[in-house]
Amino acid sequence: MKKFFLIVAIGLLCGLSGCGENSVENSVLENTPAQNSTAESVEISTVAETIPEMEISTTELSSDTSLPENPESDTLQTELSEETDILVAYFSATNNTESIAQKLADGLGADLYEITPEQPYTAEDLDYNNSECRSSVEMNDPSARPAISGSVENMEQYDVVLIGYPIWWGEAPRIMSTFIESYDFSGKTLAAFCTSASSGFGSSDSALRESANSATWLDGQRFSASASEEDVLVWANSIF
Ligand SMILES: Cc1cc2nc3c(=O)[nH]c(=O)nc-3n(C[C@H](O)[C@H](O)[C@H](O)COP(=O)(O)O)c2cc1C
Repeated sequence: MKKFFLIVAIGLLCGLSGCGENSVENSVLENTPAQNSTAESVEISTVAETIPEMEISTTELSSDTSLPENPESDTLQTELSEETDILVAYFSATNNTESIAQKLADGLGADLYEITPEQPYTAEDLDYNNSECRSSVEMNDPSARPAISGSVENMEQYDVVLIGYPIWWGEAPRIMSTFIESYDFSGKTLAAFCTSASSGFGSSDSALRESANSATWLDGQRFSASASEEDVLVWANSIF
């Protein structure tokens, strides 16, 4: 009986002093899904600031490795794919640019088109140590226009065209000029991306911009061959 009164007394004291408040906040935090948006994270840290005892559980939440590093990339995928028709068109002699183009197309839900040379480039053609090889000869001639096999059938349906290429001697390969000059890009939004051994993006798209000057051009980006889907979506997100 004594025990019963003791328990009732503790319960009453607790009720008066409000010692249950933190457990309510705790349950809010515990029920917060791991995939929170940034806005929700801000809310959590504000709660923690006002309740110092909760600092530990907040630290645990923010170091949760399941949180996306860039929550905005998901938003981008939805916004762009629902509102615009996107084409990712690329040329790739040794598949590095191809892998970036595929990640962009996958992430954005875009169509993918490979710019295929009528005469494929052999390893000999790509030997930049040889000034007589095909790629050196083409890059030394600004008017060279290597032929493309096939074409984009329905270019008019696309609002945005993302154009990928490998850097050759600091520039876009001449076949990219063949591609750009084959279509009317008026009213479309274009942006270039490239891969390279080490060169930056630089002004590699300048000849392409000049040829399609009625389009709206956004800032281009160089990627390493091993860039992730998130990396490429972060770029796409930054320009749109
Ligand atoms: C003819 C030729 C010229 C190149 N010039 C450069 C260059 O100026 N700077 C650079 O960083 N990489 C240069 N590279 C390396 C390529 O840009 C790089 O390997 C690229 O990722 C290849 O892409 P791909 O596999 O899509 O063809 C050159 C490669 C070739 C074949």
